[in-house]
Amino acid sequence: MRTPLCVGNWKMQGTIAEGRALATAIRDGLKRPRGVDVVICPPFTALAAVNEVLSGSPLRLGAQNCHWEAAGAHTGEISLPMLVEVGCRYVLAGHSERRREMCETDDQINRKVQAALVHGVTPILCVGETADERRQGLTFTTIEGQLRAGLAGLTPDAIARIVLAYEPVWAIGTGINATPAQAAEVHGYLRGLLSELSSKDAAGAIRILYGGSVKAENADALAAEPEIDGVLVGGASLNPGGFIAIAKKTARAGATGKGE
Ligand code: 13P
Repeated sequence: MRTPLCVGNWKMQGTIAEGRALATAIRDGLKRPRGVDVVICPPFTALAAVNEVLSGSPLRLGAQNCHWEAAGAHTGEISLPMLVEVGCRYVLAGHSERRREMCETDDQINRKVQAALVHGVTPILCVGETADERRQGLTFTTIEGQLRAGLAGLTPDAIARIVLAYEPVWAIGTGINATPAQAAEVHGYLRGLLSELSSKDAAGAIRILYGGSVKAENADALAAEPEIDGVLVGGASLNPGGFIAIAKKTARAGATGKGE
């Protein structure tokens, strides 16, 4: 029932020419992806070029960040209408790197999620605990706080239109992924909260992605968990062969795991 989603987050990497080449290779390797939606999130400078490459293909474009205002005196920021103009259908909100490095607050993230929905862009709300929080038994408290704050003030219908990503901070860029069981436990908890905040039906339709050291070697096992509806891939999305393999595994494992 939930089509798996495979998202590549290139982070702050690559020239326009490199982005064009990478997107072309991914597009050509995923001409007719079956049973999986694929989204690429390049840096802002490469969005227009990658949009041209993806146009007419089933792959979608996403941005890594946005401002919540449509326009104004916000030096250095990019608005949702600007992202829509360049072809973005998705936007990440609340990535842990931005929470940590840019001191993004839950309130700002909430405004971004709301603004994205107003402009018809699907927000991918990211939540996740640090290693310390996990050690202290605060995993569920942390993600619950981030989820409730990120979705504050949204109607149940609006909540139904988001994508959620669980990215444990200790798993990002470390090579240590959460085990499928660890991720599935958190995803199940998040779905229960979504059900409370929207409805059981809406929560059942929301895709919850896992992110953190996803690679071709662990994608099968992660996607085979019924509660994992896809992946948010950082480092491994910069390698076309690896990302294509991950997308295909996400589709295949997702299809069997979800009893289609
Ligand atoms: P890595 O896949 O490099 O661990 O990064 C995950 C991530 O932060 C995706 O948004």
